[in-house]
Amino acid sequence: MEDMEKFLFKFKGYYFNRSSLDIGFIENLDNFEIRENDVFIVTYPKSGTIWFQQLSLIYSEEHRKGTGKRETMDRVPFFEYKTPEMDFEERPSPCLFSTHLPYYLVPSGLKNKKVKIIYVYRNPKDVMCSYFHFAKNVISQFTGTFEEFMKQFLEGRVMGSLWFDHIKGWYEHRSLFNIQFMMYEEMKKDPRGSVLKICKFLEKGLSDEDMDAVVRQAIFENMKDDPLANYDSIIATVFGPNAKGHFLRKGTIGDWKNHLTVEQNERFDKIFQREMKDFPLEFIWDMN
Ligand code: A3P
Repeated sequence: MEDMEKFLFKFKGYYFNRSSLDIGFIENLDNFEIRENDVFIVTYPKSGTIWFQQLSLIYSEEHRKGTGKRETMDRVPFFEYKTPEMDFEERPSPCLFSTHLPYYLVPSGLKNKKVKIIYVYRNPKDVMCSYFHFAKNVISQFTGTFEEFMKQFLEGRVMGSLWFDHIKGWYEHRSLFNIQFMMYEEMKKDPRGSVLKICKFLEKGLSDEDMDAVVRQAIFENMKDDPLANYDSIIATVFGPNAKGHFLRKGTIGDWKNHLTVEQNERFDKIFQREMKDFPLEFIWDMN
């Protein structure tokens, strides 16, 4: 089995993906000057980051109208995986960023309570299954079985570290930030309601027609067919020539039922109950 850990880089207790990391930038994250109207989309990997990045359409009339030419990755770059050609300081405001960083590693400027942060979370069984396919097929960093992956995931030996720490950390420190928690499953069940909630948080009023365009272009099937939104063209460049698979894989709720055995599910539940005891946010585990 290929051990994923050799692809990881641990910094202040948190695992980054080594290959796409600018270590100098990471070491000086705290000095990065945040502008008041910047927006951050924060996720644990595989929680629907790319989906919420597509909501940058809220800010971009030309992309809503289909005339824009910028890839998602350029519209909402990954903060910690900054490429050398991307000069964040030169980008016009508002800057939209996505990040997998834990609450304690983000630049302290995010604590000014003005920067808007959208934290997207998803039920962790589906996160784990999505991650298994991603690790195997997209980033090609894992060759083991599902059981082996489950162990690594539950020990936090993956990029993003431990799922439980990530969500609890952000939630418990929410009063330090201007943050809106959004659930993947809610967005799936009620996309328009979720987009409205986000617009309200972002203080962006959209006409009904513009709202329809955002919702329509964020639907799984439409994103899958949209080369600017689906990352397909950059997967090989970012993750190497062996990368196959897609970021937009299934996009469903409850795919874990196709992966976990009864015993694995019971083991997961036990750990979940122990770790998430007293955690008030709800989770949705299936489509019904
Ligand atoms: P699956 O692998 O379960 O299909 P991330 O961007 O954080 O890596 O998350 C990827 C996951 O979000 C994938 O889950 C992907 O299919 C899902 N996703 C992306 N866009 C989506 C959309 N428009 N609707 C539903 N799911 C979406």
